[in-house]
Amino acid sequence: MLIIILISVVIYLAVKHEDGEDNQSSPTMITSSSFGTHEGKEVTQYTLKNNKGTVIKILNYGGIITNILVPDKNGKNGDICLGFDDMKGYATNGPYFGALIGRYANRIANGRFTIDGKTYQLDINNGPNALHGGKVGFDKRLWDSKVVGDVLELTYVSADGEENYPGEVKVTVRYQLTEDNELVIRYSATTSAKTVINLTNHAYFNLAGQGSGTIFDHNVTINADKYTPVDSTSIPTGDISDVQGTAWDLRTKTNIGEVIHSVPGGVGYDHNYCFGKTGWQKYMARVEHPSSGRFLEMYSTEPGVQFYTSFYLNETGKGGAAYEKFGAFCLEAQHYPDSPNKPNFPTTLLAPSETYLQTTTYKFGVM
Ligand SMILES: *[C@@H]1O[C@H](CO)[C@@H](O)[C@H](O)[C@H]1NC(C)=O
Ligand SMILES: *[C@@H]1O[C@H](CO)[C@@H](O)[C@H](O)[C@H]1NC(C)=O
Ligand SMILES: *[C@@H]1O[C@H](CO)[C@@H](O)[C@H](O)[C@H]1NC(C)=O
Ligand SMILES: *[C@@H]1O[C@H](CO)[C@@H](O)[C@H](O)[C@H]1NC(C)=O
Repeated sequence: MLIIILISVVIYLAVKHEDGEDNQSSPTMITSSSFGTHEGKEVTQYTLKNNKGTVIKILNYGGIITNILVPDKNGKNGDICLGFDDMKGYATNGPYFGALIGRYANRIANGRFTIDGKTYQLDINNGPNALHGGKVGFDKRLWDSKVVGDVLELTYVSADGEENYPGEVKVTVRYQLTEDNELVIRYSATTSAKTVINLTNHAYFNLAGQGSGTIFDHNVTINADKYTPVDSTSIPTGDISDVQGTAWDLRTKTNIGEVIHSVPGGVGYDHNYCFGKTGWQKYMARVEHPSSGRFLEMYSTEPGVQFYTSFYLNETGKGGAAYEKFGAFCLEAQHYPDSPNKPNFPTTLLAPSETYLQTTTYKFGVM
């Protein structure tokens, strides 16, 4: 009898182990539905849902994250990601809500750069400069999409000469929602000829819920000793300076409302923090919203993060929500601004023999 009981226990434990009751890697579900059309082609919205109650919706158009629903301390879900209700909103998408930005995120001065003595002139779409990949950047393209287990895989082939950039670039972006409540974004890209590349996702967050006023009641920590100071045109001076003793020192938890007006320039935070280039994901930042109990942490392999507190925001978003100045924050994983002209900054050049890789993680939770 005893032996039978023992055998049963052993079998039970073995089966339990095999089943993996705390199977970390599984049951995020991905479903899809139609989100209208773009130039006559169907746009698909994917819904990633894990067993923590988190729901993230992503389009194959621009790889746009349209919704992030996470529970607050009472278990009530709220959408903490800014965006639009339909394709009509995203067809213009002035603030680049939730979108993948490429081939080259941010400005290239005069839309001009030189590789191996050859100068390339990009389309000018932002004053005298080229911004966010040109007239039709990666954010306004329909990507190929497929679901691989709990991963949404988006791919886009940017033709040689598209937006006047050299080289055919193949980009893959993998979105994964884990059972640990992390949205992991993995980028990879290769090129047929030397080119420049700088990819990011431009999600805007408000942990109180999208459209619920300013982020002054959020507390932020940015784990960086250094930042890149800028001149009056927002171009880095080339220095890598200590945050110590400045409004950029956010190494200890700081209330955003208390410090935002003391940032020189008068437009709040829109600055790059330095972490250096590594092969692993570094802990970069944490933002908390005490009254809902929500927090967001960010990790990335990139050398920098842009902390932007949405000074220029002025849109009508999902459900008619008013998105006002200081109504959201962005934590954009990135290369330091103006790197092509700053030999001491990590390079943004990509050669055919290389593979561009980036992993960035946003972790959500309640305190
Ligand atoms: C555990 O995760 C693995 C990898 O995703 C999966 O193949 C397996 O079916 C999962 N097991 C259970 C019981 O969910
Ligand atoms: C947020 O910051 C404020 C002001 O610095 C502080 O009083 C408060 O305790 C912080 N909240 C939390 C939950 O840390
Ligand atoms: C915000 O946009 C609206 C509509 O485009 C405009 O009327 C208003 O002046 C803008 N507000 C600010 C502060 O720029
Ligand atoms: C890369 O893109 C980010 C996000 O737009 C931007 O802030 C950063 O300045 C860019 N880096 C370079 C080197 O242009």
